Amino acid sequence: MANYVFLGPPGAGKGTMSEMLAERDGHVHVSTGDILRAEMKADTDLGQQARSYIDAGHLVPDEVVAAIVTKALDTDEVRTRGFILDGYPRTVPQAKRLDATLDAVKLQLDRVVLFEVGQELLIKRLTGRRICRECGAVYHVCFTPPKQADVCDKCGGSLYQRSDDSPETVRERLRVYHEQTEPLIAYYESRGLLLRVPGHQRKHAGFAVLCEHLHL
Ligand code: AP5
Ligand code: MG
Repeated sequence: MANYVFLGPPGAGKGTMSEMLAERDGHVHVSTGDILRAEMKADTDLGQQARSYIDAGHLVPDEVVAAIVTKALDTDEVRTRGFILDGYPRTVPQAKRLDATLDAVKLQLDRVVLFEVGQELLIKRLTGRRICRECGAVYHVCFTPPKQADVCDKCGGSLYQRSDDSPETVRERLRVYHEQTEPLIAYYESRGLLLRVPGHQRKHAGFAVLCEHLHL
């Protein structure tokens, strides 16, 4: 099974596309953002440490996220099913550390998928995103609304807005992406691993485009 990094700005669809591909092909989906939010919800030391960075739209320190990723990747499940890394790496030091981790656990990175989406649509997606408090299903108030406002179609749980999806924090997250994460495009392009995928379509059309680009 191929191993992927999904790269792209906030709201590019990394999480949505990871879920769809993992469901179709069985990959282990590793989202550093989801893991950090689960720690915040459980109010662990790690969650408390991460909260101030996340709510400000800033990156959590490299050491903290690297430890999470190493633990998530070094499993038999990942070795048999392959992985999709969603939201990691986000800095060049994180990418170098990932190379070393993959060597150590004897895994190979096959493709880095960059989802390209214009800034206006990113802001619309993020500020309209809603998430189920119980099962984590993701909706959008315009693009993929639930049947009943603020109620999850799948489990009946209530929907909430992520604390970092306010317009001011979204602007800061986009700034941080341009400054700290965009250099990864050149990093992976120079190694022949980068695959650019247009990410502006609606969910199902977007997934079809992704599969076409990956020859799946
Ligand atoms: P994280 O949770 O990873 O946030 P992000 O990278 O900012 O990305 P998002 O999750 O907001 O967007 P997405 O691309 O997954 O889009 P989605 O599929 O939901 O990280 C959060 C924070 O954690 C960071 O700011 C940082 O503080 C910390 N962190 C995480 N990783 C870190 C790291 N490596 N280093 C340091 N700190 C780290 O889609 C968005 C919306 O659009 C949804 O509502 C969806 O339904 C809708 N939508 C509409 N059409 C489509 C379509 N075609 N495809 C996908 N979605 C669509
Ligand atoms: Mg996400």
